[in-house]
Amino acid sequence: MSLTRVGIVGAGQLGRMLALAGYPLGIKCLFLDRSAQSPGGQVAPILTGELEDPSRLAQLAAQSEVVTFDWENIAGKALEPLEQMTLVRPPRAALQAAQDRLHEKALFSQLKIPVAAHCAIDTKQDLLRAAGRIGLPGVLKTRRLGYDGKGQFIVKSEADIDAAWAAMGDTGLIFEKFQDFSREVSIIGARSASGRMVFYPLTANVHQGGILRYSVAPFASTLLERSARAHLQRILKALNYVGILAVEFFVVSGRLVANEMAPRVHNSGHWTIEGCVTSQFENHLRAICDLPLGSTRAVGQAAMINFLGKMPDREVLLGIDGLAYHDYGKEPRPGRKVGHCTILKKAAKDRNLALTNALKFIQWT
Ligand SMILES: Nc1ncnc2c1ncn2[C@@H]1O[C@H](COP(=O)(O)OP(=O)(O)OP(=O)(O)O)[C@@H](O)[C@H]1O
Ligand SMILES: [Mg+2]
Repeated sequence: MSLTRVGIVGAGQLGRMLALAGYPLGIKCLFLDRSAQSPGGQVAPILTGELEDPSRLAQLAAQSEVVTFDWENIAGKALEPLEQMTLVRPPRAALQAAQDRLHEKALFSQLKIPVAAHCAIDTKQDLLRAAGRIGLPGVLKTRRLGYDGKGQFIVKSEADIDAAWAAMGDTGLIFEKFQDFSREVSIIGARSASGRMVFYPLTANVHQGGILRYSVAPFASTLLERSARAHLQRILKALNYVGILAVEFFVVSGRLVANEMAPRVHNSGHWTIEGCVTSQFENHLRAICDLPLGSTRAVGQAAMINFLGKMPDREVLLGIDGLAYHDYGKEPRPGRKVGHCTILKKAAKDRNLALTNALKFIQWT
């Protein structure tokens, strides 16, 4: 029997797009988040409370046939009791692996997926030693809770070590070798409880200041796509995963180096709403509700641009042929993801032209 009532921990834009994808399937989403005004709460019912509050989580579980996440940093301890009450998808092991950059890299290595040279850091002495052993430049990151490039410091030379430690100094850090990449790409796939897997085309991602600015897809590289899919497939199987999983890679000397994974729908997959037969949001719901997975075939050449800080002029952007506009209903704030647009064209050349044109009207603040 397939499922209909989905509880979502976190009601950000990812949750909102999940709920919207659920409507045509007859799937009813219920959120848990701090504010009733959060993006998801504007489109589906919401329980208000702290995301890790045991009684609120229990309430969510009691009203849901399956619980899933728009925010993956919920503590294992808060998650465990839910498993006695309802289905939790993706599984706790996947969330726990993704929550800690050190565990995540250990999992990748165990599955023979290349990662940057790295080292756990708990003292300034550790950092000095790691800089010597691994080499500079490198990136000092928090092991937990980093997003959009927050909780990172680039250590260019030994002269930066004091400043890096002053800015970040604490236990629970990781130092990784700076990757001189030619590109960043990501792969997104879904696995059903019965073990069926589907994979979206490879996506090329452009970040600035650690935040995704825009993505272009399908990124036509048969070799890289094959290798990314093989990596993702091994992770999905190893974790007995159910739902959508995304993995970000650096392309270094023509080879993939895994950066991180996200046990949820991913920003670099927003283009699949218009750009694929079945979006990542719909396939996540299909997977966790035991419905057949949908086709991940691209229906054209897509580009997705994030709106950061404030929304751009809607009338101007909608004047661009083939552009879809997404407003998350968030208050403007510098650096905040408030919406995105996707451009869809038949030919890559036309997509590239429209992307260059649209970028002129978008100011990232
Ligand atoms: N070791 C590295 N070498 C080179 N660039 C890096 C490295 N680590 C991170 N970066 C740059 O910073 C970006 C953000 O890093 P990362 O994905 O680790 O952080 P995050 O804050 O978790 O981001 P996300 O929003 O994707 O969750 C990367 O996409 C990349 O552009
Ligand atoms: Mg990232």
